[in-house]
Amino acid sequence: MQEYYASCHTNGSLTLLFLPISRHSQNILHSNHHAASLSVSSALPAARSPRVSLIGNVTVYTNTTVVPNRNAIQSCYLARHPDARWWLPDDDDAAHIAYWARLDPESVYFVGGFGDKHFIGYIPLEIYQGAPASAEVSLQGSLVEQY
Ligand SMILES: *[C@@H]1O[C@H](CO)[C@@H](O)[C@H](O)[C@H]1NC(C)=O
Ligand SMILES: *[C@@H]1O[C@H](CO)[C@@H](O)[C@H](O)[C@H]1NC(C)=O
Ligand SMILES: *[C@@H]1O[C@H](CO)[C@@H](O)[C@H](O)[C@H]1NC(C)=O
Repeated sequence: MQEYYASCHTNGSLTLLFLPISRHSQNILHSNHHAASLSVSSALPAARSPRVSLIGNVTVYTNTTVVPNRNAIQSCYLARHPDARWWLPDDDDAAHIAYWARLDPESVYFVGGFGDKHFIGYIPLEIYQGAPASAEVSLQGSLVEQY
């Protein structure tokens, strides 16, 4: 399923706007550790294009008054997805309940493209978490539950 995300943490954890009404949010809530995997690929996924799966779990801030760095998270997320202003947490006019959430990757599986030419395999978490931010690129994420 397609999902918006934004990279708003220096350690590569991703910010999600968590809508309990969605199927994948339900799946995450129903798994004991709120497990999820998010695949990030180029706008047109293809066998020769790099993509990465971030496998970890999701912390959902259901108490909207105690979200760490809430203002910074919201500004960062809206800079990436301006249209999300219509479904922010604590907006009485929003169509659906929404919460800020964070996906903390625990393993990172990278497929660079074709195996004879590109790296395919797990990337050590500390390398992922320590990587500097890169220039904005056109990416899309799809989120699936993982047990
Ligand atoms: C990543 O950083 C955020 C704060 O920006 C922190 O809450 C979270 O626990 C960190 N995740 C990991 C896996 O260290
Ligand atoms: C994430 O999952 C690990 C085990 O897979 C678990 O130890 C940890 O408590 C989970 N974190 C959250 C926030 O559920
Ligand atoms: C949310 O957190 C605040 C501050 O810690 C607390 O006063 C309040 O009772 C919490 N609300 C709920 C519904 O747990």
